[in-house]
Amino acid sequence: MIWLVPLLVLLYLTFTRRWRCKNEPPLDPGLIPWLGHALEFGKDVPRFINRMKLKHGNIFTVRVAGRYVTWLLDPHSYDAVIDDPDSLDFACYAQVLMERIFNLQLPPQQPAKAKAMMKGYFLGTSMSTLNSTMGRHLETLLRTETLQNQRNWKKEGLFNLSYSLLFRAGYLTLFGGEQNNNSTDPCRVYEEFKKFDGVLCKLARGTLGAEERETAQSVRRRLWELLAPAGLTENSGSSRWLYAYRQLLQEDGVDEETQRKALLMQLWATQGNVGPAAFWLLGYMLTNPEALMAVKQELGQISRTENSGTPLVQRSENTPVFDSVLEETLRLTAAPFITREVVQDKILCMADGQEYLIRKGDRVCLFPFISPQMDPDIYQEPQKFKYDRFLNGDGSVKKDFYKGGKRLKYCTMPWGAGTNGCVGKSFAINTIRKFVYILLTNYDLELCDPNAQMPEIDVSRYGFGMLQPERDVFIQYRPKETH
Ligand code: HEM
Repeated sequence: MIWLVPLLVLLYLTFTRRWRCKNEPPLDPGLIPWLGHALEFGKDVPRFINRMKLKHGNIFTVRVAGRYVTWLLDPHSYDAVIDDPDSLDFACYAQVLMERIFNLQLPPQQPAKAKAMMKGYFLGTSMSTLNSTMGRHLETLLRTETLQNQRNWKKEGLFNLSYSLLFRAGYLTLFGGEQNNNSTDPCRVYEEFKKFDGVLCKLARGTLGAEERETAQSVRRRLWELLAPAGLTENSGSSRWLYAYRQLLQEDGVDEETQRKALLMQLWATQGNVGPAAFWLLGYMLTNPEALMAVKQELGQISRTENSGTPLVQRSENTPVFDSVLEETLRLTAAPFITREVVQDKILCMADGQEYLIRKGDRVCLFPFISPQMDPDIYQEPQKFKYDRFLNGDGSVKKDFYKGGKRLKYCTMPWGAGTNGCVGKSFAINTIRKFVYILLTNYDLELCDPNAQMPEIDVSRYGFGMLQPERDVFIQYRPKETH
């Protein structure tokens, strides 16, 4: 009998092992059955992907927790993935994540309808109402933070300040209406949201321990309760977008409980990335005095030439220095996976003329953080923050970057691309610019420790949009003296 176990193992390995077929990308299943490379992948994604890139080149298939994923790392070839929604589907994988993270199942066509509807509110002229409401909330919230002890420095973690302030202003703008009426207190929602954000990556990967699963479930339940009244009636104080979204869910026959789960998903999509992005941007400026000076100078000119209450709202073309700082910040700290499910066999044509067969049932993944964003062939000293990297000599915005002598269509990809790119890009940029503008023009702001360095990245968050720091950076701020 003793020989039966190794025999069964051998049979299992023989029949579950996948072999590389002609024309397929290099296959690296890893040594551990089923798990494949899951452990190394989970520890530090960029390190693992870079190791595979060195071994196999710009395209390879690896096994991670039972799934075969083909990674494509040549930015000149990204359109082959982004522009083929028929073979490489966005919705299937989004559905998997919705179930894992939000415990949410929506009717099949619902997310596409909701997205089309959302564009009407977050793009074009409708966005200006959202922008000015957001600006108003940011100003009020910041003022309340420093109300007592007006001229004393207030010390705080920059990550905490950026995330909590932008979250609360965003929540009030889109979900909650005015403060001090009967609507849900944004501070309570933020507290619960932060706990939820802390377990989000593990929820997505399905790696929560038993105790963490309990916590995740109870935090989700509290958030569903808190969000229950949002957008229910036209005058609930929520945005027109949220009211329309809730109506759409109701028309599609989505029950009350599922509507609340869908609201939590929208809360994360609209609030989960802006705060961390603003943190990195302000952090890089404060630790690079030259960058801070240049942005202050640019914003100062605008406040001198504009007397209206809300300058900057639709004037992105007038802030090339700020735009360069933001682009450089996102190059270093935006690290989403662009994942698609292969729903039919596909021949993937690379820019160098090579063709590869991609199997139905696998996933294809782009990781623009590795290339173009941190690619030394494109950016000199890619690990370094250089505030003027995206500026031409004449001060205009620099858009031309090259790899292998060929101009890149995508030199960074923090917002994704193509039909599934970020709907909230302009709103997010306007929000961050407004936040920085208010902070730098109305407040004195400095590092508590003038020699403080930017913190390391929390390596557990690769793949989920904006990265977060391992620790906070402490700053102090106070309202500027008005003469
Ligand atoms: C710094 C802030 C933000 C970053 C870095 C960011 C980034 C992204 C990325 C990478 C994607 C996925 C693209 C893909 O998988 O192909 C995405 C999708 C999306 N984003 Fe953003 N986002 C931000 C803020 C926002 C805001 C403020 C909103 C809404 C107001 C928003 C709404 C959405 C929506 C609805 C989608 C899904 C698009 C779809 O279903 O096809 N995002 N975002």
